[in-house]
Order: sequence, then structure tokens, then C-alpha cells
Amino acid sequence: MTYQNILSELRDNLLYITINRAAKLNALNKETLVELADAIAFAGHSDEVRGVLLTGAGDKAFVAGADISEFANSNVEEGENLARNGQVTVFDAIANCTKPVVAAINGFALGGGLELAMACHIRIAADTAKMGLPEVTLGLIPGYGGTQRLTALVGKGRAIEMIVTAEMISAEKAERIGLVNEVVPLSELISKAEELLNKIKLRAPLAVTAAIKAVNAAGDVIINGYEVEIEEFGKCFGTADFQEGVSAFLEKRKAVFNGN
Ligand code: COA
Repeated sequence: MTYQNILSELRDNLLYITINRAAKLNALNKETLVELADAIAFAGHSDEVRGVLLTGAGDKAFVAGADISEFANSNVEEGENLARNGQVTVFDAIANCTKPVVAAINGFALGGGLELAMACHIRIAADTAKMGLPEVTLGLIPGYGGTQRLTALVGKGRAIEMIVTAEMISAEKAERIGLVNEVVPLSELISKAEELLNKIKLRAPLAVTAAIKAVNAAGDVIINGYEVEIEEFGKCFGTADFQEGVSAFLEKRKAVFNGN
């Protein structure tokens, strides 16, 4: 597959994936998700790949979210499908990847961008990075696993606060609450992520894969929170508040919500 929206390079047994839509702050449109799914599948089945480094092009954004312009006119069913397809092909695929995936968060990681970083096994952030789940400003909730993965990383109280206030937090705060593993100056971001991956490369590959699988199984529960998230995300698309939130973003004005 030829990529138009991501760069993918295999070097020294590490697969470097860069989301490459800097003019749109690397927002995840459909093609980008298809390409990401392909690159991650390759990482999983190629014996040459021992780890993945995922980052965004430029120094402004890791990923500023799902591409809002693409789903502005979606209905409930389309909204639910958007979340389900993305979760299965990209976000869960990353989380369940047999090779360690490190997110190098080089700027804004918002909405689907933070969800993408949270699906990765390890997160290193530049000190300039800003993180948040602003979906409620659009009349939505996170739909790519954010309600589940944020809660697992930082606990219910902080997760609900971040999601319902929609506030961005600094890299320093993200480290303090356990959302990222480490914060480094932007100039050292990629080398820090490489250092980690090169250390993992020295360890037993099958044991690394087994450890990822076992840690992922922690907290598996009977009620599938990811499924609840997909359904609730879909329902948001049937509300007038969603129409208002998305229109306001695209028209570059403040949203006025009526709770309908
Ligand atoms: N979807 C689609 N386009 C997006 C986008 C997204 N999630 N995030 C940014 N862009 C686009 C902007 O529309 C703009 O495009 P344009 O130049 O063609 O008008 C371009 O990227 C640059 O963004 P801009 O908003 O001008 O940059 P800024 O520095 O003023 O603000 C942000 C940066 C990150 C605060 C702002 O872009 C933003 O709030 N983005 C949306 C975040 C969000 O709600 N994500 C969750 C989606 S579910």
C-alpha cells in the first residue's frame, strides 16, 4: 500500500510511523486511519520489526483529533460505525500489537490524538505537548477508547474531570497523574523514545509479546466499557448539540448548547 498521509520507515528493526498532515495538525481522516491500520498490521507480522515509534509531523501537533470536517453530517449509525471501525482496526490493533509501540507526543494530542497515544504501550511527551479530550465541546464523547484507557491510566476522578471539563493539561501535569511515562525537551523526544525501544530490543521478543498480552488482560471486566462507549458515542450523533458543536468548530465560533 502506498501511503499519502503517513510516513513509514523501517530502520534498525524499528518502524517509524509519522502522521503527516501537519497543515491539519495531523487530524485523523479516514485515509489516515486506513494507512495507520496497514502499518500497524505490518509491524505485527513482520519479523524485522521489533518495535514501533509513533509520532506526528511538525512540532505543533502529535494529532489534534479525528477529522471533524469528515463526520460533521454523520447520523447515529454512521457515528457508531466510525467509532467501532476505528477502535478495531487502529486503536485496539495498536494496544494488542505484539511489538511494543511507543508514542512520542510532539505537540497537541487532543481527542482521537490522545486516544491514539493512550492506545500505545508507552508515552513519552515533549515538554511543549498539550493533552486533552475536548469531545464534549462538540456535543460528543471520546469514541476511540478514550473513556476506558484514560480511566485505566489516571483513575475515574481525573478521567471524568478531564473529559467533562474538556480542558487541556500540560505535559508536566500529564506525567504527574500517570498519563505519560516521561517528559523531555522537544529536541530530545525522538532520541528518548529510541533509547527505550532499543533497550526493549535487547530483551527476549516472545517474553516482551507475552508481557504486553498479560498486562492488557489486567482489568478485563464483564461489562465491556468499550462497547458502552461506542453506543453512547453513536447516540451523540442524533443530538442537536452535536450539530451545534461541530458547526461552531467549522465556522470558528463558540458553541451554544441547549441540551437537545
Ligand atoms: N479536525 C479537522 N481539522 C482540524 C482539526 C480536527 N480535529 N484540528 C485542527 N484542524 C485544522 C483547522 O481546521 C485548521 O485548518 P484550516 O487552516 O484549513 O482552517 C488547521 O487544522 C490548523 O488549526 P487551527 O485551529 O487554525 O490552529 P490553532 O493553533 O488556532 O488551534 C487547536 C489549535 C488544536 C487548539 C485547534 O485546532 C483545535 O481545537 N482543534 C480541534 C481539537 C478537537 O476538538 N479535537 C477532537 C476532535 S473529536
